[in-house]
Amino acid sequence: MNNTIIDTSALEQEITWLTNVCERRFESYFQHNEQDVDLSELCPAPKLDPAQSPYAKVVSDYSFGFSERIVLMLALMPHIRPQVLDLFSLQNAALGRAYSEIGGWRGKSHIGFLPTCETASFILAGSNLSKRFAVARLFKEGHTLIRNGIIKLDQQASGEPIFSATLQLSHEFLQLLADGEVHKPDFSANFPAKLMQTQLSWSDLVLNPEVMDEVNNIVTWLRQPQEILRNWGLEKSLKPGYRAMFYGPPGTGKTLTASLIGKALALDVYRIDLSMVVSKYIGETEKNLAGVFDQAQNKNWILFFDEADSLFGKRNQASSSNDRHANQEISYLLQRVEDFPGVVILATNLKANIDAAFARRFQSEVYFAMPDAIQRERLWKGLFANTDKLDKDVNFREIAERYELAGGALLNVARYAAIRAVKNQRNLITQDDLLAGIGRELMKDGKTL
Ligand SMILES: Nc1ncnc2c1ncn2[C@@H]1O[C@H](COP(=O)(O)OP(=O)(O)OP(=O)(O)O)[C@@H](O)[C@H]1O
Ligand SMILES: [Mg+2]
Repeated sequence: MNNTIIDTSALEQEITWLTNVCERRFESYFQHNEQDVDLSELCPAPKLDPAQSPYAKVVSDYSFGFSERIVLMLALMPHIRPQVLDLFSLQNAALGRAYSEIGGWRGKSHIGFLPTCETASFILAGSNLSKRFAVARLFKEGHTLIRNGIIKLDQQASGEPIFSATLQLSHEFLQLLADGEVHKPDFSANFPAKLMQTQLSWSDLVLNPEVMDEVNNIVTWLRQPQEILRNWGLEKSLKPGYRAMFYGPPGTGKTLTASLIGKALALDVYRIDLSMVVSKYIGETEKNLAGVFDQAQNKNWILFFDEADSLFGKRNQASSSNDRHANQEISYLLQRVEDFPGVVILATNLKANIDAAFARRFQSEVYFAMPDAIQRERLWKGLFANTDKLDKDVNFREIAERYELAGGALLNVARYAAIRAVKNQRNLITQDDLLAGIGRELMKDGKTL
């Protein structure tokens, strides 16, 4: 845990400044003499020392000016000092409701004022239309605030003016201000993804040479995607990013390979379990996916979509409304996958469900087959490489040749064999323990020893 105490004096200065600016705007706006006011001149933003605090550093790193700082502070206030925005809850007495020009919205449990783009425009532009257009530029996709994921606009209902979008501060930025460091996002309703890590390394991975070759292609690409595109003059024709599909029976190393690719390149791999993201409510699946892609944009992450068949399995001829709904979700995922500038890996057991239109968009399709006898022997030996608690009678070659099991199943056998040895008060695992474990695994597939 980080115990650094963050210097908040820059933030305090900034809050005082924001309060001043807001009060000035209210004064000028409601006393109808606003033509004359240039708030950036009347209340210049305080000078901050970037070494002083994370907030000051962000302002300096991105060279944020008056407008960006106002937007940032507005979005921040509900989190750190909600009462600063209380003056915005003013009612228009003539209409008996809030002022449309101030915008804002109410949360479900937060009782204070939550700002929208309209609120920012009210402060920065008053009723000056050309200034309002300048404010609109702050909210464009390409602008630093949005591009770097510092703030997010959330349009609550389609067809409504863009300025009615809520102004939301990213979770990461908020943590940066509070702790001085960026955290890896945790699994949450807005971010249904989990960081994957593995203790294993490449030398533990047992794959046939063709599969290894495909995996190496991905790694080569990842080492220098920009250079590859540029050197070969392909920037215009090829989309950035790399999309791979891993398919094959359970326990053959798909998830492990994705983790190892990330580990080799020191990139974070986030696993999104599609079976948990897919919702029966219309529009909800897309919203869940959007949460992941929005956060992942501009980060050097590998997105690993696991259990892809839970989405594709739903697909059918669009005969009923449910199927049409499923098709929409798939199109949405496809679109986001295609536009994503980083690496996306999809994993599935049932490739048959994934149609040609989808497959075409992937740079590689890698089939993870069941290991053959030689590979199984390597897997067995690798699994017990760090133990000397094996009885002399254990013969890996024999069981490797005899029983067709995937790497994942071997793990279960090993665990069971160890438990069985302990239960029988032995401190060595015997061939018999392994055979008993194998028997249980085979039974899952309806087979016997
Ligand atoms: N090819 C392999 N090489 C080395 N170890 C393997 C291999 N395949 C499986 N394993 C072992 O089995 C574990 C489970 O495999 P993994 O989760 O990667 O399978 P998967 O193909 O993703 O299965 P599923 O389709 O069920 O998700 C791995 O963590 C690893 O310990
Ligand atoms: Mg898996």
